[in-house]
Amino acid sequence: MTTTKTLYLLCSAAPPVFDVARVIEDAQARGWDVCLGLTPTAAHWVSGSLDGLAALTGHPVRWQYKFPGEADVWPAADALLFAPATFNSLNSWALGLTDGFAVGVAAEAVGKEGVPVVAMPCLNSALSLHPQFDQSLAVLRGAGVTVLYGEGGFAPGPAGPDAPPHFPWRTALDAVTNGR
Ligand SMILES: Cc1cc2nc3c(=O)[nH]c(=O)nc-3n(C[C@H](O)[C@H](O)[C@H](O)COP(=O)(O)O)c2cc1C
Repeated sequence: MTTTKTLYLLCSAAPPVFDVARVIEDAQARGWDVCLGLTPTAAHWVSGSLDGLAALTGHPVRWQYKFPGEADVWPAADALLFAPATFNSLNSWALGLTDGFAVGVAAEAVGKEGVPVVAMPCLNSALSLHPQFDQSLAVLRGAGVTVLYGEGGFAPGPAGPDAPPHFPWRTALDAVTNGR
């Protein structure tokens, strides 16, 4: 594939974030120019890899808002994938709580014409039963976000283990690539 459209890949602090280098390479192989944004906690988790991830993408890895007056360091997005999206980030996004850079970018993208937005939540089944979660799914889906959860998307496992049993990264990349 020879297209060079820009994908904003936003990750929050759930264990699949540790796969992000491989996922970036998969996205690049599909023709995406990838810009990586992280929540502060996710940035902390992969802090030892930030320089390597910037080199891999060719763009600064971002987890903080720029200073007022600073130039944008990323090209405009053609699509956005928020994965893994934690319970915290997904709810913040749905509620419009944009104190963090990654959720702020995702919130803005919902209002931009022609930018497909895909999210893949990552949470355990206990958190999935919190009443806010279904409301957040409904709000985001109602706003046009493709939320890959349940059949054909992420299926939560039991609370307890550090990592979910399976995070279908390929499905997430398929959805964002097919939507462009
Ligand atoms: C080992 C470990 C695994 C975690 N896995 C998840 C997860 O799969 N989903 C989730 O919503 N939160 C998970 N958390 C909790 C989040 O990291 C925590 O809520 C964090 O504040 C999320 O912040 P963020 O949404 O800004 O990245 C995990 C925490 C730890 C320490």
